Amino acid sequence: MEKKLQKIKQQVTECTKCELSKTRNNAVPGKGNYKADVIFVGEAPGKNEDMKGEPFMGIAGNKLSIALESAGIARDEVYITNIVKCRPPKNRVPTTTERGTCQNYLEKEIEIIKPKIICVLGNTVFNSLLNGKEIIKFRGKVVRKNNQLYFLTVHPAATIYNQKLISVLKKDMKKLFKLIKELKDEKKIKIDIEYTS
Ligand code: URA
Ligand code: SF4
Repeated sequence: MEKKLQKIKQQVTECTKCELSKTRNNAVPGKGNYKADVIFVGEAPGKNEDMKGEPFMGIAGNKLSIALESAGIARDEVYITNIVKCRPPKNRVPTTTERGTCQNYLEKEIEIIKPKIICVLGNTVFNSLLNGKEIIKFRGKVVRKNNQLYFLTVHPAATIYNQKLISVLKKDMKKLFKLIKELKDEKKIKIDIEYTS
């Protein structure tokens, strides 16, 4: 299992499938525990991540760590990745084409790790994975689509200039890890939104 993830990591590092490969310093593969119960999915690497080749290394990453810690969780217990693995110039939102070209890597990460739940961080991810919008209205909710559970919350970057949102993110992390405990104990959890396809 670890070997398969290692292979994806290598493919991402060398990938030139889209234009973003021309402007990046480093591609940013997912990182964390391959036995994680939850995968956190962000939008795309920013400046710090592009420099270091690791996800959520800057201020947004720090906010994510703080919120996880408030729920008693260390970063290395979870797996963290992004929709798009290379930094878009000037941190613009990745285009639909870029997201589409990169999506196979995320699909493989999910297939290998088989998380109990996927944590959707912010609007771009909500839109890409679940065709949703206005995450602020749906945060804290559980979605089921094709037998996969998702938990919706705000993007850690959105909490940087908004103190209220850091409390929201912390509250959501507590709920998420409570849900994960219930899932591990094979308890029935409430599904807020069911996608039928
Ligand atoms: N924001 C993201 O969405 N992903 C990162 O890796 C860093 C900041
Ligand atoms: Fe490849 Fe994804 Fe980077 Fe594009 S963003 S070059 S598809 S790894």
